[in-house]
Amino acid sequence: MMALPFDQREGVIWFDGEFVDWKDAKVHVLTHGLHYGSCVFEGQRAYGGVVFKQREHHERLRTSAEILGFELPYSAAELDAACEELLRRMNFVDAYVRPVAWRGSEMMGVSAQNNTIHVAIAAWEWPSYFSPEERAKGIRLDIAEYRRPDPRTAPSKSKAAGLYMICTISKHAAERKGYADALMWDYEGYVAEATGANVFFVEGGKIHTPLADRFLDGITRRTVIDLAKRRGLEVIERRIKPEELAGFSECFLTGTAAEVTPVSEIGPYTFKPAEITLGLMTDYFAEVQPKRAAAE
Ligand SMILES: Cc1ncc(COP(=O)(O)O)c(C=O)c1O
Repeated sequence: MMALPFDQREGVIWFDGEFVDWKDAKVHVLTHGLHYGSCVFEGQRAYGGVVFKQREHHERLRTSAEILGFELPYSAAELDAACEELLRRMNFVDAYVRPVAWRGSEMMGVSAQNNTIHVAIAAWEWPSYFSPEERAKGIRLDIAEYRRPDPRTAPSKSKAAGLYMICTISKHAAERKGYADALMWDYEGYVAEATGANVFFVEGGKIHTPLADRFLDGITRRTVIDLAKRRGLEVIERRIKPEELAGFSECFLTGTAAEVTPVSEIGPYTFKPAEITLGLMTDYFAEVQPKRAAAE
């Protein structure tokens, strides 16, 4: 059965500083963000009613907008407060939270210097990005035809909506072939990331992951690198050639939505979720739980 479409759900959405009924949180068809991609967003997860690394997400949202040349009319602290109130009003404990900011409608051309900047935050219950059965076995990834763009050809450090155009095309192509997702190379042909998550490999007890200087350096990626180091594991950030995939024993994805998800196949290469991947899944799950203030 189809889930209820996202524009027909019940509840409230924070929209330009106010809470509006979910079904009334609309934009006009002549909106710059829709036509010209002047739109940035975040994906956050609340665990036990608390968004993990909320401030970092809101700072990244502001930075993503600055990279596209616009300033959010709300501080990170104001966005934190809006998000907390939204979760309270929606009565959500474990939820996905989606802030989004875009240029409005005053000008409808490539230039839109004075358009109003709009910001909205919605939240919904969303247990796992990949199905739990698929996740335990390890998911299967296709290899995308599109590559992550050269930072000289796109604002690759911004979580900008436009950068997801090639992700959707690649993920759809992968799904048509029965894969869960697709891995993308970078513009020079090195391993980059999946369509909405970063990638890690294991060989000989060491972790290898692509240098995040040409795609999103995920908040989960950085968290998992810290967790691995806390376990005494060496983490090597470097350029990885596709043919090196043959020599890795484990592989996993990281992302706010994906959390730590084991991978069993990437095109012709196979991996087996084992000690390091499963250990980091457990560590990440513990890390995201809300920290209670020490008992007095
Ligand atoms: C393209 C892409 N890469 C990486 C990530 C992982 O980022 P994070 O761990 O901050 O969610 C995401 C998810 O936001 C993404 O969309």
